[in-house]
Amino acid sequence: MKAIVLTEAGGPENLQMQELPTPQPKEGEVLVKVHAFSINPVDIKTRKGGGLLAGMKESAPVILGWDISGVVEAVGANVHGFREGDAVFGMVNFPGNGKAYAEYVAAPAAHLALKPAAISHEEAAATTLAALTAWQVLTQQAGLQKGQRVLIHAAAGGVGHFAVQMAKYLGASVTGTASAENKDFLLALGVDQFIDYTKEEVANAVNDADVVLDPLGGETTVKSLQTLKPGGTLVSIVGGAKEPVQQQAKEKGVTAKNYLVHSRGEDMARMATLLEDGFLKPTVSHIYTFAQIAEAHRQIETGKTRGKIVVQIG
Ligand SMILES: NC(=O)c1ccc[n+]([C@@H]2O[C@H](COP(=O)([O-])OP(=O)(O)OC[C@H]3O[C@@H](n4cnc5c(N)ncnc54)[C@H](OP(=O)(O)O)[C@@H]3O)[C@@H](O)[C@H]2O)c1
Repeated sequence: MKAIVLTEAGGPENLQMQELPTPQPKEGEVLVKVHAFSINPVDIKTRKGGGLLAGMKESAPVILGWDISGVVEAVGANVHGFREGDAVFGMVNFPGNGKAYAEYVAAPAAHLALKPAAISHEEAAATTLAALTAWQVLTQQAGLQKGQRVLIHAAAGGVGHFAVQMAKYLGASVTGTASAENKDFLLALGVDQFIDYTKEEVANAVNDADVVLDPLGGETTVKSLQTLKPGGTLVSIVGGAKEPVQQQAKEKGVTAKNYLVHSRGEDMARMATLLEDGFLKPTVSHIYTFAQIAEAHRQIETGKTRGKIVVQIG
């Protein structure tokens, strides 16, 4: 099979297409013929030598990627709920070795869900790591409730644009931050309040949030504590809730914590339902071919991607 191997930590030129043996599904795994996969900022961090690279080197060659949509080609022992020919999607082995930049991926069945027939492989591949992050943060980490107010930073990005739609689905009132070029996009997604972070200090505009989703870190995390009402919760997905910030939060009567998304088939099944029922619609702003992987990485590195980008195979 063809796969994109990271030859060594560094620039996008170190992502090279190679011919490798097709993996065999182990117990509990299915072999997926991949139709599309999506790219996340963690792919870039890992490619550069940070992110998850340290743990991935043990299983050389290093193949990046976690987000797939495709068709089950073979089923390992003790797999229930999936058969050869099923269209599936999911975030595979995160945090760990997903090895998703490949024509075939051996994936734990417990990390996958059936892809709704009306959803394309490109849309499904987009609705994986970023969507699970938004879902796990809002529902499991912050316990967002109907009628509450949530502040979503970087609301036009991969995680953010899913978080906005999920928060609306959950019945919350949503404030989203982005630059002016994404204002109409966010209003169309359903934000109740738009803040152009290049012009306005968020802490001056919001002071009654129940929940903050922080994909930015640094000063944003610290300043966002001021936007929370007593008892509120900030969840940083970039490690922004460092010890002193957590202490500061405690003194203010709020909670600040960090979170890392985890593969979970039950949550993927929920994504499938939300997609099927029309509550979730991924914005796929660019589709690349397998051979254009370096361009796809350069796009994410701009930090300006709207929604998701996806790579098609075949
Ligand atoms: N811990 C976890 O489990 C986890 C999971 C997923 C992602 N992450 C991390 O979370 C971060 C975001 O991920 P992502 O996939 O959403 O990234 P992304 O799609 O690349 O985010 C791009 C978006 O960020 C917006 N943006 C950039 N700077 C901003 C600022 N100062 N204020 C508001 N918006 C800003 C841009 O909007 P404009 O163009 O309008 O500026 C753009 O739409 C990454 O660092 C990623 O590694 C962590």
